[in-house]
Amino acid sequence: MARRKLIAGNWKMNKTAAEGAALAKELKAAMVAINPNGVCGESISQIRDAEGTHTAEVLVCPPITTVPAVVVELEGTCCQVGAQNIHWADNGAFTGELSGAMLKEIPVSYVLIGHSERRQYFGETDETVNKRTKAALKYGIKPVVCVGELLAEREAGQTNAVCERQTRAGLAGLTAEEMKNVVVAYEPVWAIGTGKVASNEQAQEVHAFLRGILKSLFGAETAEATRILYGGSMNAANAAGLLAQPDIDGGLIGGASLKAADFAAIVSAAK
Ligand code: PGA
Repeated sequence: MARRKLIAGNWKMNKTAAEGAALAKELKAAMVAINPNGVCGESISQIRDAEGTHTAEVLVCPPITTVPAVVVELEGTCCQVGAQNIHWADNGAFTGELSGAMLKEIPVSYVLIGHSERRQYFGETDETVNKRTKAALKYGIKPVVCVGELLAEREAGQTNAVCERQTRAGLAGLTAEEMKNVVVAYEPVWAIGTGKVASNEQAQEVHAFLRGILKSLFGAETAEATRILYGGSMNAANAAGLLAQPDIDGGLIGGASLKAADFAAIVSAAK
């Protein structure tokens, strides 16, 4: 079964609502330009080629206060809108957090979970990644579960072990049925925001390894159907090579997602 590629932009803590609306407007123009039909398919989340075949799915994840303006701007386009975090509780004394119910009413269709910046700066653990993932699924929001090794871990030959631990723990207790709505993102931490992209071979090797983990957890069919994105300095120049790898099913893009032309070029490379 062919996996439809997902190109996701992680805007991180960039763009106020006004700035985000401006970027979304540029993105809209760029999306229309790359879509031969000029408009999106029946489902507004998919880019179609000239024959009407689904070729890619597009997502942007702005800061939550910017999401409403971006949703308005992108209405009727191929681009979906997601959040960057979700709390696991339905409500309660969790200052500064947002529940699935709150995100759902904004609305967002995806949420990033366990990004290395959350793990590094905000105490995210494999356990909280798992709780947030379950909360997202409970509220019908698709989780993008991020895993990836630090430079020191790669140098110590621990890449597979770290990615395996984060994947098994992050997805613990999920069913194969739930996995239909889960996306995994492999983001080597040493490649995030550094301009040091993993080579096509390095990335493919870990993606294939992760697919093997998914197979052992959920069976071959689910492993084959689950999308595994690559993230870490993906840009307009290197996207095509990475996206051509058999187990790379899209990208999670930080820096380059803040430039409409670059992001659209990456979407184009996924077609
Ligand atoms: P980058 O970020 O593309 O700027 O390296 C990727 C990410 O953090 O998701």
